[in-house]
Amino acid sequence: AHGAKDLLVVFGITGDLARKMTLRALYRLERRQLLDCRVIGVASTEMSTAQLVEHARTAVADSGETLDDAVFRRFADRLTYVHGDVLDDALYARIADEVGPGAKPLFYLEMPPALFGPIVEHLGAAGLLRDASVAVEKPFGHDLASARELNARLRALLDEDQLLRVDHFLGKEPVIELEYLRFANPALAGLWDRGSVSAVQITMAEDFGVEDRGKFYDAVGALRDVVQNHLLQVLALVAMEPPAGADADSLRDKKAELLKAVRAVDPAQCVRGQYDGYRQIPGVAHDSQTETFVALRLEIDNWRWAEVPFFLRAGKNMPVRATEVRLMLRRAPRLPFLPSPAQAERNQIVLRIDPDPGLRLQLVAQDGESWRPVHLDASFARDLGEPLEPYERLLHSALAGEHSLFTREDSVEESWRIVQPLIDAPPPLHSYQPGSLGPAEAQQLLHGHPGWHQPWTGSDGKQPG
Ligand code: BG6
Repeated sequence: AHGAKDLLVVFGITGDLARKMTLRALYRLERRQLLDCRVIGVASTEMSTAQLVEHARTAVADSGETLDDAVFRRFADRLTYVHGDVLDDALYARIADEVGPGAKPLFYLEMPPALFGPIVEHLGAAGLLRDASVAVEKPFGHDLASARELNARLRALLDEDQLLRVDHFLGKEPVIELEYLRFANPALAGLWDRGSVSAVQITMAEDFGVEDRGKFYDAVGALRDVVQNHLLQVLALVAMEPPAGADADSLRDKKAELLKAVRAVDPAQCVRGQYDGYRQIPGVAHDSQTETFVALRLEIDNWRWAEVPFFLRAGKNMPVRATEVRLMLRRAPRLPFLPSPAQAERNQIVLRIDPDPGLRLQLVAQDGESWRPVHLDASFARDLGEPLEPYERLLHSALAGEHSLFTREDSVEESWRIVQPLIDAPPPLHSYQPGSLGPAEAQQLLHGHPGWHQPWTGSDGKQPG
């Protein structure tokens, strides 16, 4: 087994992800006194370690952190810069010099996926993989075949427990909280199946467009960008059975089992949308068929969820930023003393992932002659304090040798299998207005079930307006 690491090597230290996320996360870990190793930054730009330190200072400050000089100095003392071409053996000789004998490095590849294979092969040839782990960022493949190929290529040199596939949604506090909430609370556990739940809605709405990522996004689209990875990982945690042990694989076994039970999507049960104006974005093809919105219906073939549809939707340029999981409970029976709309209104359990994580239980209460919905709301920030940010948590876990928050080979391949029919035969594309919740056709997917619910927005559970 491969345990804790004592050195972090970041490939692509001058890139976008490092500038926006990694350097900030490392600085914050330093401030919490949770960082305890050297950090080697690798990139192709010719510059000195002092220049990397300045780059890091700017990146951390630009990310909105107030810089504490003493903390930053401690962090800067950990940094070393190594430059070179990732396809050149000479770079790996320099890295080996810096790493030194006996180290247990974590190599974090913040690089285009086409380079994962070549970099790992070079690391292997330089003898650097023996006590190492390798973390890779998404996208992990662009369809089932390429994901399998990539897994095979990396696994030729790495054991599964040396390979950490990063999905930053798994570092989000409310996503981690799901397992605990579901299984530590009989009040939830007892409702969490087809006996009480009639449908589940998972929404990821973003109130901004593709802006400066046109070239990247146009080759990817909403399905590959956030559904195959983030939303199917959330679905696995929402729907899995309880893990049998405390180790990382007990949890990952249950997630993989659940994904195995999800039927591949029927393209007739999927609606794709593209917002007006998308094709004018630099880097986007003028006749692009890429979706910026996708909604789909999933079926899970097991005893817990048979006949309970899971509706997923994700879109750019929506009216709100909101990521949530909403369980629609079954109707109450018709009882003579209940006004009929109250009987028609569903109880709901909502887990809000972003922004302002929390949990809401929607009930119906009598109100004079009539009835109205009432809410029991918990705000995690208020009740549980400020959590680690996703990249802080993932880096910390990876360095600690704790792998439950990283996606395993089987669940990555299962999730590609689930969406593959939509890649083979993409459903028609509908346009939608920026600032709307996607094309009207997305409502028809839910026929026979309560329609898409407005996301829970506003703090303390109050809907704005
Ligand atoms: C990324 C996607 O993985 O996740 C982006 O590439 C998306 O398109 C982002 O905006 C959303 O992450 P978060 O943490 O802001 O919800």
